[in-house]
Amino acid sequence: MIILKSPEEVKKIEVACRIVAMTLDIIKKMVRPGITTREIDTFADVYIREKDAIPAFKGYRGYPASICTSVNNEVIHGIPSNRGLKEGDILGIDLGVYKDGYYGDGALTCPVGEVEPELERLLRITEEALYIGIENAKTINRVSDISHSIQKHVESNGFSVVRSFVGHGIGRDLHEDPQIPNFGPPGRGPRLREGMTLAIETMVNAGSYDVQILDDGWTVVTVDGKPSAHFEHTILVTSDEPKILTNLTKMH
Ligand code: MF3
Ligand code: CO
Repeated sequence: MIILKSPEEVKKIEVACRIVAMTLDIIKKMVRPGITTREIDTFADVYIREKDAIPAFKGYRGYPASICTSVNNEVIHGIPSNRGLKEGDILGIDLGVYKDGYYGDGALTCPVGEVEPELERLLRITEEALYIGIENAKTINRVSDISHSIQKHVESNGFSVVRSFVGHGIGRDLHEDPQIPNFGPPGRGPRLREGMTLAIETMVNAGSYDVQILDDGWTVVTVDGKPSAHFEHTILVTSDEPKILTNLTKMH
């Protein structure tokens, strides 16, 4: 069941999302060769709690950290560790915030120092695909119009979309209906309606779309060992243009 949000609920989701955006903005600037993913996780945990909010992933189904950090061939759900980042790596950072009964969710992938041009292109196409998907989150469309537009952009650029993980509705729960795959034919699934809040997340592999989960029970990696990127925004479907809630917006 898809839960439509009232303007009061949207305001609360917006607050959670603004904390997501602020945290991502600060920690992406910490990313450089030598820093460990655990240091980034610890910073995010403290920062989010200072905002009187809760890092949503900590303890979620037993997840052991406050953010997910996925390096190179890791697609999503990488667990922060003492591993130091190296020049030329790419780092996916995914984080959720719970505040006043509601969730916000966002992710980005950033280069560590200078990276190969093909990795730059992977990041660019994955982010572009997210924005194309968001543009399609309008009331004239159905859920799979988002999916289809993302897949088209990714595959026409020679990359592949992950099949076994998808975007999702968000609100009082971190994961609500509908599921939002990054692939599929257009014109299917529920019609999009004003008041839907959606976490759209593009997960794009440089090689094949096949992924597997490591023995830690969390880390999703590409089967062919090639790199993967991930971007995510929480958005609101409106009667007009979709509104991105996890963008940095000025407080007034
Ligand atoms: N960010 C993921 C999502 O969008 C959730 C992470 S699950 C966790 O669905 F356990 F790692 F928290
Ligand atoms: Co999500």
